[in-house]
Amino acid sequence: MKIVTVVGARPQFIKAAPVSRVLKGVAEEILVHTGQHYDPMMSDIFFSELGIAHPKFHLGVGSGSHGLQTGRMLSAIEEVLISERPDWVMVYGDTNSTLAAAIAAAKLQIPVAHVEAGLRSGRMDMPEEVNRIVTDRVSSLLLCPTTNAALHLANEGITNRVHVIGDVMTDAVYETLAFPPTSSTFEKPVGKYFAATLHRAENTTPDRLPRALAILGSVPGTVAFPLHPRTKQAMADQGLRLPGNVLEIEPLGYADMLSLISNAEAVLTDSGGLQKEAVILGTRVVTLRDETEWVETVNMGANDVVGLDIDLALSALSQGALDMDKVVEIFPRGASALVAQLLVDPV
Ligand code: UD1
Repeated sequence: MKIVTVVGARPQFIKAAPVSRVLKGVAEEILVHTGQHYDPMMSDIFFSELGIAHPKFHLGVGSGSHGLQTGRMLSAIEEVLISERPDWVMVYGDTNSTLAAAIAAAKLQIPVAHVEAGLRSGRMDMPEEVNRIVTDRVSSLLLCPTTNAALHLANEGITNRVHVIGDVMTDAVYETLAFPPTSSTFEKPVGKYFAATLHRAENTTPDRLPRALAILGSVPGTVAFPLHPRTKQAMADQGLRLPGNVLEIEPLGYADMLSLISNAEAVLTDSGGLQKEAVILGTRVVTLRDETEWVETVNMGANDVVGLDIDLALSALSQGALDMDKVVEIFPRGASALVAQLLVDPV
């Protein structure tokens, strides 16, 4: 069994790590890095820290408009697939790397396994939503993190080879906590603090970014803010500065990020992954978007989706502790092993 796994952006390195570990015993996995994320702290650190094999192919695609970035990936991935002829192409999540790999494979009639299938925000103006819908449509094995995700697929008429396996990111969180790297020099803020991230395209516009930063500025305490390159660039372009209580930090490695959020009073974010990671670690989340793909975290009372409303954000910060029994029920461990099992023996 030969599997080509295509990754390219930070959350994909994290999700691929526990799955690659399980696959080691059962299949030949060839890793392709598209180069969508290329700064060392957005890419290389995850390979060394999470023990991911060196990619056999690094496509070096880098930044660009969506069409340019996706198109470059598409033609480069096609070449790899023609030379490797795998049994499966495995993709994660909803990035342009996911979309490019799925289309390249589908055109060559190589089956696609999509990890994190079925997520929907209902907003076609999000590039990620377009990527999700197209990827799911051309996938042969749809590996859903939640029953809600499988329901979305059923609503779109996709019911074949759909499996609810849980979330591989849960395995990544627990495995990283169990074996933290020893080389980090990162020091968390002293005393009580909040943590925040912002990077979504729709939140970095001149209309929304100042409002998002104003929310961070109104938080009653220090806000540790690992700054995504897109947001850094948007702030420079718009002449924006961080509020005084917001502490800019470089993008962090995974163990440091988990440590930052598990000790925070609450997390404010527009990231998909961080909403789950915070909840798994018992930290309350305030989502700075108008909707979330992870409705389970809202239903269990751990996540408030507040858009860019300062009053709603501030009152959400002071809600009580999470129901950890519920968290463990919704985000069980073991999804990575199920991915390997279903690839070898699809039912
Ligand atoms: C991408 C994904 C998003 C995912 C996110 C995780 C798409 C459409 N979006 O968004 O689903 O949640 O990754 O971070 O694929 N940049 C750098 N250095 C880097 C990477 C990016 O400077 O290492 C800059 C580039 O200037 C680029 C901008 O950040 O223009 C945005 O990069 P992009 O590839 O669009 O991805 P993300 O915004 O990170």
